[in-house]
Formats: sequence, C-alpha cells, structure tokens
Amino acid sequence: MSMTALRSITGPLTKPLVAPSILSADFAALGDECQAVVDAGADLLHLDVMDGHFVPNLTMGPALCASLRERLPDTLLDVHLMVTNPLGCVDSFAGAGADHITFHVEADDDPETVINAIHSAGMTAGIAINPPTDWTALEPWLHSVQLALVMSVNPGFSGQSFIEDVLVKTAAIREQLNDDQRLQMDGGVNLKTAGACREAGCDLLVAASAIFGAAEYGSVICSLRGS
Ligand code: DX5
Ligand code: ZN
Repeated sequence: MSMTALRSITGPLTKPLVAPSILSADFAALGDECQAVVDAGADLLHLDVMDGHFVPNLTMGPALCASLRERLPDTLLDVHLMVTNPLGCVDSFAGAGADHITFHVEADDDPETVINAIHSAGMTAGIAINPPTDWTALEPWLHSVQLALVMSVNPGFSGQSFIEDVLVKTAAIREQLNDDQRLQMDGGVNLKTAGACREAGCDLLVAASAIFGAAEYGSVICSLRGS
C-alpha cells in the first residue's frame, strides 16, 4: 500500500517518482486498475491525452479525468497533452481535478500563455519535447515550469522502443533545472532502460506497458525507481 499521498509534483525528492501511464491499462476496468497501481506504490498517475491531430491516436479527455479524481481523491493526476491546441484544454482538465498539465513545445508558438493559463487554473505546468527536437527549444521556458518532459519515443502509442539518443539532451536539460523541478522521461521506459534515465538525471519515470503488462505491479514500480 502506498503510504504517502502526493498532490504536488514540485519540491525536493529523496527518491525518483514512478508514474504509470494508464494508456496500457484495461480500459474496461480502469478504476480498479488505477487503484491497484496506486496501492502497489505508484506515486502518481499519468494520463495520455491525444487528439488524433498532433499525434495519430485518440485516447481520453476531461470526463475520464473527472471519474478518476472521484475514485482516487488523494492521487496526483498528471495530464500529458499531446494535442494541437493545449490552451483550449487547460480549464476543462482543471475542472476535472487534474493537478498537473504538460504540453508540447512543438504544439504551440506561445508557450508562455499556456504556462500562465495552467498556473492561473491552480495547476503545475510542464513542457515536453519530442525526440527530433533540439533541447534548446525548451530553454526559454525552463525557468517557468515545474517539469520538463523528454519523450523517448515519438508520441502516439505505448509499447514502442526507447530511443537512446535522447539521453544526451536529457542530461543537458537536467543541468538547467533546480532540485524543485522534475525531469520526466516517457516512452519505452522499462527495467532495461530506467537505469540510464535515472543516470541522465530523470527523477520521474513514466511507464505504461512495463507496468500494466507485468503480473505484479509493486516489484516493477520499485525496480523502475531503482530501489
Ligand atoms: C506515448 C505516451 C506514453 C506511453 C508510454 O505517446 O506519451 O506515456 O503511454 O508507453 P510505454 O511505457 O509502453 O512506452
Ligand atoms: Zn505520456
């Protein structure tokens, strides 16, 4: 059973956080699946929101987030927006009980407005970068966000292979962040790749297939954390 309820992504950490991405859960049993990973020690839940335009897949929206908030009132809900119009999603996810929103630097030419909107709605903000994008695209916004997300697959689907090249820019981004800011890796994170992510400075690991594809969630979550 998880002993600490975490509702804020910021602040110094003593150990890396693990966030199951519910994209690989059994959607027909989603509430029970989410409860099970939280009980097994997950620090937060990662919701992959895709619009069929920014990425070639359609997934979930604010109604699902609201249902999870009702079922798991103490669990941090981390919304990863893979959408063309992130600004248009901010208020609806805030109203649905999200604690944190990350959007893509590739999706919006005015990140400052999106970050301000997320903060004004009472949430922490993150900015994400796709594998082909140079990390300097994030640089102007790193001082304004609570989290930077490095995508280690091209977003759209769970179960893809980890792109090792992103580890170099991950370390460069870590150098720009302070101890209160999270550095998140997402895509192909599993028992083989998690160690390299942590060594590159990641303190928040997202995993979908590695966790929901396992027979026993708790030991995978511990191993991803490095403990
Ligand atoms: C990818 C999503 C990820 C994905 C990870 O587009 O943003 O969160 O669900 O899936 P795995 O861990 O299976 O690579
Ligand atoms: Zn994600």
